[in-house]
Amino acid sequence: MQNHLNEVDFGTPKRVSEREVTLEIDGTPVTVPAGTSLMRAAVDAGIKVPKLCATDSLEPFGSCRLCLVEIEGRRGYPASCTTPAEAGMKVRTQSDKLQQLRKGVMELYISDHPLDCLTCGANGNCELQDMAGVTGLRNVRYGFDGANHLDAKKDESNPYFTYDPSKCIVCNRCVRACEETQGTFALTIEGRGFESRVSPGQGESFMDSECVSCGACVEACPTATLQEKSVIWLGQAEHSVITTCAYCGVGCGFKAEMKGTQVVRMVPWKDGQANEGHSCVKGRFAWGYATHQDRMLKPMIRRKITDPWQEVSWDEAINHAANEFRRIQQEHGRESIGGITSSRCTNEETYLVQKLVRAAFGNNNVDTCARVCHSPTGYGLKQTLGESAGTQTFASVDHSDVILVIGANPTDGHPVFASRLKRRLRQGAQLIVIDPRRIDLVRSPHVQAAHHLQLKPGTNVAVITAFAHVIVSEGLVDEAFVAERCEAKSFNEWRNFVTRAEHSPEATEAITGVSAAELRAAARLFARGMNGRRNAAIYYGLGVTEHSQGSTMVMGIANLAMATGNVGREGVGVNPLRGQNNVQGSCDMGSFPHELPGYRHVSDSTIRAEFEAAWGVALDAEPGLRIPNMFDAALGGSFKGLYCQGEDIAQSDPNTQHVSAALSAMECIVVQDLFLNETAKFAHVFLPGSSFLEKDGTFTNAERRLSRVRKVMPPKAGLADWEVTQQLANALGYPMAYRHPAEIMAEIAALTPSFRGIDYAKLDRLGSVQWPCNDEAPEGTPTMHVERFVRGKGRFVITQYVATDEKVTRRFPLLLTTGRILSQYNVGAQTRRTDNNRWHAEDRLEIHPHDAEERGIREGDWVGIFSRAGETVLRALVTERMQPGVVYTTFHFPESGANVITTDNSDWATNCPEYKVTAVQVMPVMQPSTWQQAYRQNDREQQALLEAGRAVLDR
Ligand code: SF4
Ligand code: SF4
Ligand code: SF4
Ligand code: FES
Repeated sequence: MQNHLNEVDFGTPKRVSEREVTLEIDGTPVTVPAGTSLMRAAVDAGIKVPKLCATDSLEPFGSCRLCLVEIEGRRGYPASCTTPAEAGMKVRTQSDKLQQLRKGVMELYISDHPLDCLTCGANGNCELQDMAGVTGLRNVRYGFDGANHLDAKKDESNPYFTYDPSKCIVCNRCVRACEETQGTFALTIEGRGFESRVSPGQGESFMDSECVSCGACVEACPTATLQEKSVIWLGQAEHSVITTCAYCGVGCGFKAEMKGTQVVRMVPWKDGQANEGHSCVKGRFAWGYATHQDRMLKPMIRRKITDPWQEVSWDEAINHAANEFRRIQQEHGRESIGGITSSRCTNEETYLVQKLVRAAFGNNNVDTCARVCHSPTGYGLKQTLGESAGTQTFASVDHSDVILVIGANPTDGHPVFASRLKRRLRQGAQLIVIDPRRIDLVRSPHVQAAHHLQLKPGTNVAVITAFAHVIVSEGLVDEAFVAERCEAKSFNEWRNFVTRAEHSPEATEAITGVSAAELRAAARLFARGMNGRRNAAIYYGLGVTEHSQGSTMVMGIANLAMATGNVGREGVGVNPLRGQNNVQGSCDMGSFPHELPGYRHVSDSTIRAEFEAAWGVALDAEPGLRIPNMFDAALGGSFKGLYCQGEDIAQSDPNTQHVSAALSAMECIVVQDLFLNETAKFAHVFLPGSSFLEKDGTFTNAERRLSRVRKVMPPKAGLADWEVTQQLANALGYPMAYRHPAEIMAEIAALTPSFRGIDYAKLDRLGSVQWPCNDEAPEGTPTMHVERFVRGKGRFVITQYVATDEKVTRRFPLLLTTGRILSQYNVGAQTRRTDNNRWHAEDRLEIHPHDAEERGIREGDWVGIFSRAGETVLRALVTERMQPGVVYTTFHFPESGANVITTDNSDWATNCPEYKVTAVQVMPVMQPSTWQQAYRQNDREQQALLEAGRAVLDR
């Protein structure tokens, strides 16, 4: 798995066909699927044809004329990239004539090229340079004095790559990459003939254009025209290591290109099964946080949180933490401490933390940040389908005819999947969006949703039940599927429930704000498909789960998929778009207080006995505390100690005042993190964390796909996170002696049926594996529930809409909902420490022009946002993306304090916080300049201003 620096470029994309053709290239017979280009067939035969405008990630274009070949019995010199292989062809890739033609082409290119190869950043990794060598170019007959582009101005506006038009050969690869791979259509070729040049928009720089800095054009460029600044600065890499992005749940495979232990660049891995060579701005470019000067590299302790930190050795910090935890347990009981696992860490690390809690702490007080995002997915899908995970691969969307996106914003949250989704839409699939906000997918270049149901926040369940009402009452149920695959009793009860008149779109329109006609049309499209093709897939995000009825909505989605027969094959399914890189894995690994690894309840004595035998301790049969229960118990005085790995609960959990009070009430908080985060303000022990570049392990993405994380540099603070947990367990008197994360995975596999067939050797061999992976599915399971549901028969669940307690009133007349933006990531600890701030330097409050005008708010004004829980201040972004009555913000900056205003309402089944609905009032608090100044000065002044604002509100 090491050194993929020079991957083979086949020139044109792979073709799939049942028909094969056999031909001869330079006398070598080769057999390829029909539709394969001559260029690709030649590479299969071990023959490289010179090329410049072709690359295997893009459709052939045929512009450079370098790849010409001769075909026996045919006239002329066809381009091998655009000519399909045919049975019986005899092809020659080398002849004097071809050599002469190719040289001529190269002469033209080189006559208008700076020829600064020795000082060029691409020196040694430039296709133009290679082709000059391959074609034997020795001189340029036209000289270098003619018209040229050598003085063309560089565009260095993008923080991560440059555009140097003097080196452009106008091969169009960048334009095609932006269209075909990324789907943004930011680039064009401006001008004609000699004047033609790549442009990110009329006279615009890359930064001012529609470009989202995904890097696809940079990757596609065969010259140094588009090039990473890190390569220009550091030079070409010496070796590479395949690893997995540590940002979002797409789980893109990357080649970390290295010089020694220094990252030169991160290149999306062509064979990465989740991303197939694509990436977004975060994984591709925003890795600088890993070596940022803010990294904490020394363990620290302090008696009280008001004391200064004291740097100590690892041993001292770990022993101090262990002694404190033992003291607390002696004084307050076994249940008085707990742990929080991290969805940013590897499966192996997460597994160790939950094991530490269960085996060394002796209780089940372990929880994870999935509590605040996808815990309703786990609950809802388990109840209905029998497994707490998504049903498909990302590639499955290539077979979807209708795509329903609910409460998710893939172009910002899951960008690489969004590119794939948009490609399918460009091929003709239909899109339905259910979202309070007009997300980019609703209308963007070459994409237009058939229906956007712009519902009021908090009314998801009413909408999904109305959807079901239309499907049942209009006879659109897939009766055969339901009869064969689902429980008759629960289906009949559900059918009777949804057909009640009160669930019709007409009856719910006033509650949901969604036009009955539009909802009916969308439901018909979903159930009927288009042109006789009926694959309908559902993708959803936190706009579904982070509600008081999050679990109900997940079950409503599963009901819909089952009723329309859209489960168990490619192109369909129920697909939660999971937020963090390893949130699926942290749930799989037993991070919830009621479940051992593999989602098995702690009260099951047979399962417990297996773990007790393997771990050598008696395990508690009672579920432990969830995160919100830990906070309540801390305030009640019974919960005193917390081990928190890689999770900033002080910033990410709702109702900040409540969380702060709970954390302040504890006696020993151990924070393990890369940075001194907000939670560390309440900590007594700080243990430096290790980044994904510093350790081995695995992440599990939203497709249930386990991919390897590989160490490319030693841990900066000396220990990887799993080693720290192991030492803490040992200090607590519970022995752990893993020598490598592979041994931890071996234990996970031995104890967890769905992981039984997984080991590092298999992951190295296959690239990645989707669980379940065991004797029945030795190479993993791309599609779930194929023959039968995991629980046997699919179960329908009644989805009674219950309005949230969070109501708008005259005092709080607007609804606030929250989300993410492409360039930043969650609490921003990583992305805020990169140049991604150039795209999003602060959180803004999006507000509809009518609401803004009513309040005298203009674009950019500072506004106070007041809820029943608290208040904060942001600048306004006036936009018609919002519907009147609804405002929106991201939560990437701690100073915006979005969670100061969210309430502590939560999902009835899982306690997942209701982040997506908060009743607020918004008002300009002060003249912008004065306000801005005060805001920046200190919190006290900010507080005073907000109090003044609230006084106005109270009048
Ligand atoms: S910028 Fe690069 S990829 Fe784009 S046309 Fe120029 S040489 Fe080709
Ligand atoms: S970086 Fe991505 S979005 Fe920007 S121009 Fe290149 S391909 Fe298009
Ligand atoms: S889509 Fe997600 S996993 Fe892929 S590069 Fe971007 S952040 Fe990383
Ligand atoms: S590579 Fe075939 S025409 Fe350019």
